[in-house]
Amino acid sequence: MNRVEPESGNVDGSSLSPWAEVVALTRLFGERVWAAPFLIALGLGAALADTLSVGLAVMLLFALLGQNQKIAEGGGILARIHQSIEGVVGTDVTTVAAVFFALILLSAMLVYAYQVTTAVMMNHVAQRMRDLVHHQYVTLSYRYLQPHEQGQLLHILATETWTVADAFYHLARVGVSICAILVFGAGLFFLSWIVGITALVCAIAVFALLRLLSVPVRRLGRETLAANQVLAERMLVSLHGMRTLRVFAQEEYLLRVFGSASSRVRRLAIRAEWIKALIGTLGEVGSLGALIVIALVAGRSGVDVPTTIAAVLLLFRLQPHLREIETSRLALAGMNASLRSVRETLDGDKPRAAEGSKAFPGMRSELRFDDVCFSHDPRRGRSLDAVSFVIRRGKTTLLAGPSGSGKTTILNLILRLYDPDSGRISVDGVNLHDYSRASWLNSVAIAGQDIELIEGTLAQNLKIGARDADMAAVRRVCEMVEILEDIEALPDGFNTRIGTAGQNFSGGQRQRIGLARALLRAPEFLILDEAMSAIEPDREIRIRDRIAETMQGGTILVVSHRVDAAVAADSRIAIAKGRIASPPQGETAANSSKG
Ligand SMILES: Nc1ncnc2c1ncn2[C@@H]1O[C@H](COP(=O)(O)OP(=O)(O)OP(=O)(O)O)[C@@H](O)[C@H]1O
Ligand SMILES: [Mg+2]
Repeated sequence: MNRVEPESGNVDGSSLSPWAEVVALTRLFGERVWAAPFLIALGLGAALADTLSVGLAVMLLFALLGQNQKIAEGGGILARIHQSIEGVVGTDVTTVAAVFFALILLSAMLVYAYQVTTAVMMNHVAQRMRDLVHHQYVTLSYRYLQPHEQGQLLHILATETWTVADAFYHLARVGVSICAILVFGAGLFFLSWIVGITALVCAIAVFALLRLLSVPVRRLGRETLAANQVLAERMLVSLHGMRTLRVFAQEEYLLRVFGSASSRVRRLAIRAEWIKALIGTLGEVGSLGALIVIALVAGRSGVDVPTTIAAVLLLFRLQPHLREIETSRLALAGMNASLRSVRETLDGDKPRAAEGSKAFPGMRSELRFDDVCFSHDPRRGRSLDAVSFVIRRGKTTLLAGPSGSGKTTILNLILRLYDPDSGRISVDGVNLHDYSRASWLNSVAIAGQDIELIEGTLAQNLKIGARDADMAAVRRVCEMVEILEDIEALPDGFNTRIGTAGQNFSGGQRQRIGLARALLRAPEFLILDEAMSAIEPDREIRIRDRIAETMQGGTILVVSHRVDAAVAADSRIAIAKGRIASPPQGETAANSSKG
């Protein structure tokens, strides 16, 4: 199974730093590159506005109390701002107070705009990631996706796509903090280069200390990812296996394994929070130490007291930004494994279903397999070995063979869920893969033993292959397969919910729903994969006759375990252990004809 292993890395073995992961993911946002600098500029404005707004509030208070003079006496940047405001609007107390109030409002609006923009950005990123991952799941080759754990796929789609949004948020915060540090830092050097250099040295020392913590955080991130995937799998088992596990009285076991997966996620999350809190505390202590060192160095090297105080105040403003960089860096380290699994899911070089460009014009003569080989997993040998046969248009062909002989594999190749490893599948001489999937599949419909009913109502399930069908047509096919009466007896009729995997219906009802669904598509080529195994014999015969009647001129492929199945087939293909059992007879056909 392709689970992301907690320690050993990943599927393709490429391990990148969190920065590189985010940069790689950023490539998916080519057209929105302007958003990052805009967000950082806005964030910086918001940070400065936030810093200024306390001072502005004090000035508003002074202004309201008619104490403007006190501001001027106080000196510093506040006095300068006050001076410039008076220079423009005059000294009228009310006007000055109004200007301060407007400035405070402006700061608040900047902070508000930043928060809203951030939320918009995060939701855009999350949606984009979700849609891209979902697109991969829908378009990647079925054969590639089949062996992946559903829990892992679900976790990547539902949760890890949000982690990417979180990562972008942290990246923007780092951008804002770096800009803020540059602005405040420049101010610091402007005040005194000695203080500036000391602050720089101290900052590097604190950073180096906190850096040590990123190693366990990264490991925790990988462990958390794996634990969450296991938990998602357990959730799926509990939901999908609801009936099976109960009838085998496995509730105790279910509760135990779910509980242990759930508590592992909790333990890892708490450990991560514990390290985060430690970072906060260490950062605090580190910066306090730095302030003391700076004050001492400033005092010893003759920097005057007001300058030292101003520098220390500036440093105080700088501190949260320094810490934010470290927090975001560590958060990103913790997200690395999730970012990697999203990136790997989105990496472009994955197998996709082969797609041709020709429009399928309809079968004129035959569908043909020539020496088709296929293996699901090379380690398990070939599931189909040089299989050749012909299915003729307008005829009923029986494909028969024991369990595990390769019948469903053949159907999956016809339905283009798989592509052959070698050999050729052709329709009227044209390679099947030269036709577009949709145009080929438009002419085909399948009803099977395990009907894959999907969540939704009966009507939605019936119309999966014929979305525009009207209810009269739906009723007609339901009547043909003798399910109409059952449906009309339901309180909600066609609006009845199907339940997970069709659990609200009996096995035979599910098969009849599957048959109706296939017939509603009015296919040229109908595939019945043990489609009536759960239907009583006399009803089966009635339904078979009606199908034969409506399919006049169409092609039918009937799949059965038994070569002597009581099907009025025009020709038979026998398969055993992935090989055609009876040698080809006749001049063109590999089929053995019943005559
Ligand atoms: N997803 C898969 N991965 C690996 N091997 C598979 C997979 N699906 C089928 N196989 C193997 O391929 C072979 C053919 O399987 P297939 O499902 O085609 O048999 P079948 O004739 O349809 O059997 P049944 O009558 O029981 O449905 C079997 O050996 C099976 O174990
Ligand atoms: Mg099968």
